[in-house]
Order: sequence, then C-alpha cells, then structure tokens
Amino acid sequence: MLGGVEGGLEAEGEVTATMDLIGVVGAGTMGAGIAQACLQGGVEVALYDVSPEALDAGERRILSGLERLERPELFSMVRRVDSPARLSRCDAVIEAIVEDLGVKRELFAQLDRLVEPPRLLATSTSSFLVGRVAAATEFPERVVGMHFFRPAQVTALVEVVRAEHGSDEAVRRAVRLVRALGKTPVVCGDRPGFIADRVARPFYLSGMRLLEEGRGTPADIDRALRQAGLRMGPFELMDGIGLEVDLAAARGLWEALGKPERLAPRRIQEQLVAWGRRGRKNACGFYVYGENPPGTINPDLEELVPGLGKRPLAPADVVRTVVGAVLDEAKLAAEERVGSPSDIDIAMRLGFGWPRGPFEWEREIAA
Ligand SMILES: NC(=O)c1ccc[n+]([C@@H]2O[C@H](COP(=O)([O-])OP(=O)(O)OC[C@H]3O[C@@H](n4cnc5c(N)ncnc54)[C@H](O)[C@@H]3O)[C@@H](O)[C@H]2O)c1
Repeated sequence: MLGGVEGGLEAEGEVTATMDLIGVVGAGTMGAGIAQACLQGGVEVALYDVSPEALDAGERRILSGLERLERPELFSMVRRVDSPARLSRCDAVIEAIVEDLGVKRELFAQLDRLVEPPRLLATSTSSFLVGRVAAATEFPERVVGMHFFRPAQVTALVEVVRAEHGSDEAVRRAVRLVRALGKTPVVCGDRPGFIADRVARPFYLSGMRLLEEGRGTPADIDRALRQAGLRMGPFELMDGIGLEVDLAAARGLWEALGKPERLAPRRIQEQLVAWGRRGRKNACGFYVYGENPPGTINPDLEELVPGLGKRPLAPADVVRTVVGAVLDEAKLAAEERVGSPSDIDIAMRLGFGWPRGPFEWEREIAA
C-alpha cells in the first residue's frame, strides 16, 4: 500500500522512538547538506566519510553554511567519527555516499550488522531502486529511501521511498524525521525517478519538442513558462544543471522505464552534448553566456533546427502543451502508485518551483 503523508500514516500507530542522533555517511555535497539540515532541526549528527579529506571539507562546508545563517553554535552538535562502527547508537543512519550500487550495498550490509533494528537505515540514492540497496540487508523492513534535493540544507522537499519490503513503521519514522527537520515529506513508491524526477521529465522533453518543431526559441518558451509563474523554463534550467548531466538523467530514466517513446531523449540535446555544449558551466548550452547579453540564444541552434522559432506558439499554448505533458506523466505515475496526486503536486511545487502542481493546474482550468 502506498500511504499518503497527510492523515493515513501518522494516524496508523504510535511512533515510539525519538530521533536524537542521526548518522550521516558521506560528507560530500549531499551528506554535508543533510547534516546541516539535521543541525538546523536541532538534531545531533555523527558524520562519517571514508575519506578524512572529504570529512574535513564537509565540516568546513557545514560550518560556513551555519555561519551564513548566523548560527555557528549549532556546529557543536556535529561529531566526526572515524568508522561506521561508531554509528551503532544512532537512531537513524542516512547514507549519502557515491552513486555506486555495489558500494552502497556493501555499506548497508555493514550498517545492518552494526545498527540494531528497528533503527532506520535510509539511502539518498537518486538513480537506484531502494529495494536493490535494501536487499543487501537482513532487515530490509527498516530500510527506506530519503531523497533530498540540492541544496539539501535549503530545499524543503524530501521524497520518502517505500521499498517492497519497507515497513509502515519505517516509513512513518522517516516522515516524522523529515518533519522534525522542518521539511515536507512526500511518500513515493520505489519506481525509477521516484516522483519528482519522473514527473518533471516531460517538462524538459516537451519544451525541446516545441523547439525542434520551430514553435518557439528557448527564450520564447522559457519566457512563456516564467510568465505563468514557474521559477524557470526548461532551457535555462537544463543550462544550469548541465546539458550532459540532464541527458544522462533522461537516458537513465527512459531505460529504467523500458524505453517508452514518450520519454525518449530529444535529438537536439544529444546533438548539443555531442558538440560539447554543456550549459552555463562552459558558457554554451541552449543560450550562450560570458560577454553576451543575458538570454542570447546559442547560434548553433540555427544550424540544428531548421526554421528555428519561425512558427511560434502563443504563450498560453506553450504553457498548455508543457503543463499538459507533465500532467499526462503525473496521471500515469499516480496510476502506478508512484505517488498520490496531492504528493505529486507538492513535489512539483517544492522541488521545481511550480506555482501549483499539475493536478491543481488541471482543476483550476476546469473551474
Ligand atoms: N548531488 C545531487 O544533486 C544529488 C541530489 C539528490 C541525491 N543525490 C545522491 O546523494 C548521494 C551523494 O551524492 P553527492 O553529490 O553528495 O556525492 P559526492 O561525490 O559529493 O560525495 C560522496 C561522498 O561519499 C564518500 N564515500 C564514498 N564511498 C564511501 C563509503 N563506502 N563510506 C563512506 N563514505 C564514502 C566520498 O568520499 C564522498 O565524500 C548519491 O547517492 C546521489 O545520487 C545527489
């Protein structure tokens, strides 16, 4: 059963244990952010990383983050530990190590022996099914996914993933922990992309389809969506993420879902990546940066898209097309019990800065 976050799960039973000490394994980008989020939520942290240099860097990052918030005193609540064995007294351990299934499974097998059930073990993986990590343990019922979004110390959304053998109790504890950190949990099924990365994929793909069909330039399409209240349009977002990073995510999701035609990566992105256009990081993606005025379109697009922007859609039609594509995927995801419609709406608002989720949008148009 896929429990809704609101109502259902918390009412279903007493959660006895409190979360006073959280273990965080991995002190990189996400681990440091998750640790800082715990400290900001008043929860002590035991921080471990296989690399002492990474631990040094992670600690520096946490301290400077807390200093920016004028709360450096919280740093005294983080304890650096030099071995996973020192995590045995943690109420929950959140893993944020390298995205390598074998390494994660090895760590979970070790944590499973060290940390007694029902203490929670959580993985922050973005691309593996949580069940595959949990299968390395003897007590998979206490393993959940806790998928944070970058920067983890800021972004409110956390996807709590219920794997095949995950218990209601474990999901409930994870939900409570997320709330204790002042964040908003959504509960999702253990399917590729979970909620947000899956439902948002057609946002990028439908934007690129419009571009390939000459129905607008990146600037036209981004502007139409920004005017509808979105924080960013698909092209400026892809340029920020990195075109090659986003393409790898697109391919990963498409393959994991059995290569459905609707989610196939777009040729325009493949071509730009093949030409080494990676977005903001090398000043050239769908837009060009550096000396050029903001919003200057990459001249390569003239070559790649015959009739670039020659048959522009009205802004309202751009919004209808892109939101419609996201809504179609959201409906499929809800049918597959990846998430409830209300959790999908929350994920799109908090994870992607949409003014309303796709189901809320549909209701508004119908009203
Ligand atoms: N970066 C993102 O935007 C993002 C977003 C959501 C989820 N995630 C997930 O978070 C996890 C961490 O990603 P990241 O970007 O912080 O990676 P990162 O490379 O910045 O940090 C990974 C850290 O793990 C450490 N490590 C590797 N193997 C270890 C082991 N066996 N035991 C202890 N420490 C070990 C490394 O020394 C490194 O410091 C990944 O699973 C990733 O998919 C990342």
